Order: sequence, then C-alpha cells, then structure tokens
Amino acid sequence: MKKTFFTLLLMMLATLGMLGCNSNTGTDNTMIQTDSSEQRWWKEAVVYQLYPRSFKDSDGDGIGDLKGIMEKLDYLKSLGVDVVWLNPIYSSPNDDNGYDVSDYRGIMPEFGTMQDFDALLKAMHEKGLKLVMDIVVNHSSDEHEWFKQSRSSRDNKYRDYYHWWPAEKGKPPYRYSLFDVNHDAWRYDSLTNAYYLHYFGVKQPDLNWENPKLRQEIYDMMKFWAEKGVDGFRLDAFQFAAKDTTWPELPKGYEKEFAKHVAMKPAIHGYLQEMYEQVLSKYDVMSVAEGAGNSFEDAHNLVDADRKELNMAYAFEAIDLAKSSGYDLLQFKQVFSKWDSAFAQKGWLSIFLANHDNARMVTRWANDSPEYREVATKMLNTFLLSMRGTPYCYYGDELGMNNPGFTKITDYKDGPSLNDYTYKLNNGMKPEDILKEMQFSCRDNGRTPMQWSNAAQAGFTTGVPWIAVNQNYTTVNVAMQEKDDNSCLQYFKRMVSLRKAEKALVYGKYTLLDAGNQQVYAYTREWQGKKLLVLLNFSDKPATANTGVKTANAKVLIHNYSTTPSATLRPYEAVIYGL
Ligand code: NOJ
Repeated sequence: MKKTFFTLLLMMLATLGMLGCNSNTGTDNTMIQTDSSEQRWWKEAVVYQLYPRSFKDSDGDGIGDLKGIMEKLDYLKSLGVDVVWLNPIYSSPNDDNGYDVSDYRGIMPEFGTMQDFDALLKAMHEKGLKLVMDIVVNHSSDEHEWFKQSRSSRDNKYRDYYHWWPAEKGKPPYRYSLFDVNHDAWRYDSLTNAYYLHYFGVKQPDLNWENPKLRQEIYDMMKFWAEKGVDGFRLDAFQFAAKDTTWPELPKGYEKEFAKHVAMKPAIHGYLQEMYEQVLSKYDVMSVAEGAGNSFEDAHNLVDADRKELNMAYAFEAIDLAKSSGYDLLQFKQVFSKWDSAFAQKGWLSIFLANHDNARMVTRWANDSPEYREVATKMLNTFLLSMRGTPYCYYGDELGMNNPGFTKITDYKDGPSLNDYTYKLNNGMKPEDILKEMQFSCRDNGRTPMQWSNAAQAGFTTGVPWIAVNQNYTTVNVAMQEKDDNSCLQYFKRMVSLRKAEKALVYGKYTLLDAGNQQVYAYTREWQGKKLLVLLNFSDKPATANTGVKTANAKVLIHNYSTTPSATLRPYEAVIYGL
C-alpha cells in the first residue's frame, strides 16, 4: 500500500528516536555517582503539558486563553505538578494552531495580551509553579515580517533567513513535506521566481540556521522570555534545523531513515552549544528538544551534562508503538527498558504517553470502555509517574479523558490532518475508512476542551468551543472527581505525592522483571537502600507476574483497586510495594 502522510510522519518520528539503539544493561547507579544521579529540580519535577486553546476560556469566544489558565492556577497547584509547559501562545495566523509564529515577542490576541502573560507568570511563581515556553524556530509563519521581507526581493537583507532555490536552476531536489497536501516541501513563489522550503505546512517556511544573524535573533528572542522569568524552553522540531543545504538528491528508500537524510546534521550541536552559551547557561531554565536524534549516541550528544547542550531527551520510539490495531506489551517494555538502560549513567529522559500530537492516553495505551477507563487511566499514570526520567502529564489525562469518537470530517479542525484526509481521498481511500482511522489516531482527539464540570460545554466556555467537547463530560469532569476520593484525579494526585516522597522513583535504578510476561509490566526502582516494586497489569484479564520478589510483608504504597491486592492482578490493576 502506498505510504500515507501520517504513516510517513510516524516513520520519521520513529527514525528520530530509534535507529542504532543498542541495549546496554548492568548499570548500578546506587554505587557510582553519575550525571543521571545528580540531583536537579528539573529531574524531580512533574511537568503538566497544557494546550492553551483547550484549557479554559475566560471571555466566551470558545478559545482557551491566558486569563482562563490564571483562573485555574489553584487547580494546577492542587495536582502537585511543578512545571507547566504551554504550547505556543505567540502571535500567529493559526495555520498550525500557533506552531506558525508571526511574532515571537507578541501574544496571540485570542489568548490575551502581554500584560496577561506577565500577570500569569507572576501568579504562577507566587504559587511555586514554573512555566516552560514552546520555542518554534525550525520555521516561522509566512506572515512573519522576516519572511515578508525575505520573499520581497533576492537582495533583501532577510533573504538568507530562509532557504530559497532560484527557479532558473530548474526544480529543486525533492524534499518531503510533513503537512503539505501534496507532500512537496518546495513551494514556488513567483515574486522572485524561486522556491522556498517548508518541511511542515506551506505557511511554515523553514528558517535558515546557517545564517548567524538569524541565530542571533533567536537567542535574543529567547533571552527576552528568559528575562521575563520563564523557567524553560521546549524546542519544537529542532532537529530539522540542521539540514544538508547542498540539497543532494535523496537516495531510494530514504523514507526509512528520513531523519538521517533531512535532519540532525552535525551542525545541530554547534547551534545548541551556542544557544547554551548565550542563553541557557545564563538562567536557571530547563531545556528539552522534541525528538532525540537518530541513535543513542545522538541522544547523548544532545543531553549529556558535560556537552552543554540540553537537559533532557524526548524520544519518540515508544509513543509510536500504539496503533489502532493495538500494540505489543513486550515491545513496549523492551523500548522503555532499552532507553532507561542507555541513560542510566549519563543524560536524562522525558517520560510521556501522550501530547498534543497524539490521541488520548487511555484510548491508545489501555482501554477507554466505560468498564475499564478509570482503572486503566490510574494504571497508566502509575507507570508514567514511577519511571526514571521527568514525567510529562498531558492535560485531561489526570481525569481519564479519552478520544471523543468524532464521526464526521467537519468535527476535525487540525489543518494538517484535514490535508491528510484530502490526500488519502485523492489516492483512492474510502472516506469511511479514513474516518475510522482518524477516530483512533487523529491528533485532534487529544485537543478537545478540558472537562471542568457537567455544566454546558464542560464548563470550558460560555460560548461555542472551537472544537467539540467530548460528550462524556457529564460524568468525566474535574468537579465530580474532586469530590470522589476514588476518582482518577485523586489517584493522580496521590501518585504525584508518592513520587515526591520517594526519591527512588526519580533517581532509582530500574530493573525489569519477568520480561516475557505478555500482560504484566513489572519492575523495581532502587535508591539509597530503598527498593520499590511496581506491578502493572496492562490487560483486561487477570494476570500473575513471576517477579521472584516476596510481597507478603511489603507495604502497599499505592493501589488502584479498593480491595487489597493479591498475587493475581485484576484487569488493569496497578500496585506499588515498598519492600
Ligand atoms: C511539532 C509539534 O509538536 C506539532 O504540533 C507541530 O505541528 C509541528 N512540530 C510543526 O511545528
């Protein structure tokens, strides 16, 4: 079958995260002081990723905003999380919901004003919450002043802020675009008779990182936010910034090693070291880039402390395993174990099961049927918050929000996904088949409004939400879960508290047990004489694990069923024992 747009995207992301990953076991960081065991606030932090458009609308226009977030700071604080990562809030024509920035120092009017931002940051700091900004600098919007200038003439001083190919040289060598309706990353612009490059949408021209002036503009812009007091940066799609600009023809089968051919060229380390020198080293900020390179070596080169680049890797290999047809738990365990072991001595990882580019956690990784949604959500959050690495919780996953089950193409709002739909239709797929797949995997599934209460529109807005609310908001919402001690929300808070109380869950050595068990994910975490056992039944059937660890006298530290755990784990049962 012809490879479709998102299949390629997934392959590309997988490539960014997995090639050449060799397992390396036998590390014991209870003995040796390594950079992984060095204590840092950003390692101990729990990150809450919040999609501003969908979190809380304060003015009834149907779009979440900064004042809305401000209204909910007590809620964020009550979760026990430390850091809030905001998806882009800059001025943008919103071709890709803010990932197309037209002014890096301005706030999108739909979200509010710079005054609102300053007030929000101040209020967050007063509550002990930190804020991480999403920095989108592989590309800008075509409505950014730099691009307007750049396209205006070949000798404009901003011309080299972007990648141009003069048309008199013929057509440029093919490059794949992830979001273009025809997948062509070069767009002809008649104004100067040249093509510009856009790895993402046609309105997202790629910035030219080889130009020192452009790089300086970006560092100055980051300093602008750091001076305001933001606590970190997430670098969007940054691996694409370092490209081979001799533009060689791509070899046959390049899709299988997409990143190797179109991204992650060695210059990336120079850019990051320069960024570290000019910005990151001067402030107490955390830094994470999307993706983790082509190999463990790449990932280490991005994040090992002595290299002075970034703080932590954000690898895609695991997140790409979930398919509508399901996934293999053995593979899931293998991937997480392999990455843990590769970072046991040096570097640091992010742990996540969902984000704004993926469908909902419980739908993808467990079971969102009414019978199991709650217990499965609690199980997944037990996993997320008991692995080594900084956990990233995506808004709503603390409640067990699931995919909304949209049935019509008009329910979806994401431009790139709509382009993908058109592409598939043009290539002969039946609309009902495309819609069925979208119901599972489209990233809009993870962008529906936060479910605050059983009031109209889940209490998200008094107007018409920009994307429909999941209809289960009458039973799945914050207000109800706050009152119910057995709710997903209360469980999430307890799990965050446990992580805070037990440093072993942050820094402890991880050991996989009963690796071949098809239903149970079992592991221990050990740190400074403390040992914890984590048992997670990832299936809807009773299961046992052969861990060789005695639990008769162990203390149950957390458990997602109301009755005592036994040797047989019930469907999606999760328990952590203190040994
Ligand atoms: C990755 C972001 O996570 C995604 O949402 C965005 O569409 C692309 N980068 C382009 O910026």
